[in-house]
Amino acid sequence: MTLRVLTAIEPRHEAAVMTRLGAIATIDVVRRCPDLPDLLAAGAAGLADVAVVSAGLRGLDRDSLAQLREADVHVIGLIGDDEAEERRLRQLGVATIVPADSGPEELREAIERLAASTPHTEIGDAEWAALESGLDPAGRPADDDSEAPHDAAKGRVVAVWGPVGSPGRTTLSVNLAGELAATGVSVLLIDADTYGACVAQVLGLLDEAAGMAAAARAAEVGTLDLATLARLAPRVDPGFRVLTGLPSADRWPELRAESMTHLLDLARGLVDVVIVDCAFCLEDDETLSYDTRAPRRNGATLAAIAAADTVLAVGAGDPVGLQRLVRGLPELREHSGADPTVVVNRVRASVAGGSPERRIGEALDRFAGVSVEHFVPEDPVAFDRCLLSARLLLDEAPKSLARARVRALAATLPAVAEPAPSARRRIRPRSATIGRWSTA
Ligand SMILES: Nc1ncnc2c1ncn2[C@@H]1O[C@H](COP(=O)(O)OP(=O)(O)OP(=O)(O)O)[C@@H](O)[C@H]1O
Ligand SMILES: [Mg+2]
Repeated sequence: MTLRVLTAIEPRHEAAVMTRLGAIATIDVVRRCPDLPDLLAAGAAGLADVAVVSAGLRGLDRDSLAQLREADVHVIGLIGDDEAEERRLRQLGVATIVPADSGPEELREAIERLAASTPHTEIGDAEWAALESGLDPAGRPADDDSEAPHDAAKGRVVAVWGPVGSPGRTTLSVNLAGELAATGVSVLLIDADTYGACVAQVLGLLDEAAGMAAAARAAEVGTLDLATLARLAPRVDPGFRVLTGLPSADRWPELRAESMTHLLDLARGLVDVVIVDCAFCLEDDETLSYDTRAPRRNGATLAAIAAADTVLAVGAGDPVGLQRLVRGLPELREHSGADPTVVVNRVRASVAGGSPERRIGEALDRFAGVSVEHFVPEDPVAFDRCLLSARLLLDEAPKSLARARVRALAATLPAVAEPAPSARRRIRPRSATIGRWSTA
């Protein structure tokens, strides 16, 4: 069988590689693509089985590789003698890489092996990053000695979702992260809300932090590795890293679903638990749009929900909030690999009647078949104090019922497989450094 091959090769290598490809009887070079748009168009038109692509091809990124993958085109990366080219291709998920000066036999073998393989077998990004970025064997940046060691890529992802109407996604996300960090579990809190990112403000962090925008960009162009992620998501407290959100909501197109998936893969190798503060909206623009490659406003949220080991569905404990929650759950389940855990927040008798937890629990169970195990009471004094000081419940209202409920919820979250006791950091009260990060 003749394999149909597309090429998109930098001028400095093109003539020599084309001559060698021309000498291979079992392949047919169906098109020499002068640039990336041409390559993507040829791939989408179903012209080829394999594309031979230079690492230096202008514009080559995660999104374009995803387009080729969707068109069932296998990609072989072609590199010069610059090691950085290979690293970048690996980080973009290209598993088959050959030097540009490979002979015809070597090229033939690589092309045939790839075309015969299960499509796109790739090594994990975290695994590659750990090998390549000068990290220690536990997968942590070499200078990163205060985080408890754990197997790379074992961290768990928790997506915190809730319907429109500010039911408390961010409040729960930051406080859950704080509770986990205080017990010695290393945490990365990611602000993925493409409508109104505010984790930086809630924690009093400097707005200038490049955070999510820079991480998404790096993921897109293939330069996001574990060391870069660690730099972009600094520790605000021992064991507590934060990747701040997009600086303004109109920059949502920068945050692509593919980048989010890659980011989460990598983050699993950095910390025990990744908490993602998601956007409220679950609409998938893909079904509305003819151009399926167009950026999707909710892509990052949907990717986080799909990747998460645990999905929390947060609803506000009043009639409107509860109805929105119940209506949103089927859609959430469609996108989620895990069965969502329902949390009712802002529970108060003034709107739900006496014994509000019991009443809400019974009503949801009876009328919507939803069982609720977690309730957080309305506590304006405690939460306002937190907002004012840019600190967490465990600092501002450590003995409140709200804090006790958040802590109990945190204890149910799956952390990474328990390491040996000696590897665990001693549990210690959390210091109140977060507030001091404020922009003063
Ligand atoms: N249990 C609670 N008691 C009192 N106030 C609360 C409680 N939970 C959250 N709040 C307050 O409600 C407001 C909204 O909370 P939060 O920002 O966490 O919601 P969200 O779901 O993330 O909303 P958004 O749609 O803006 O992202 C905040 O002022 C927060 O302090
Ligand atoms: Mg929020």
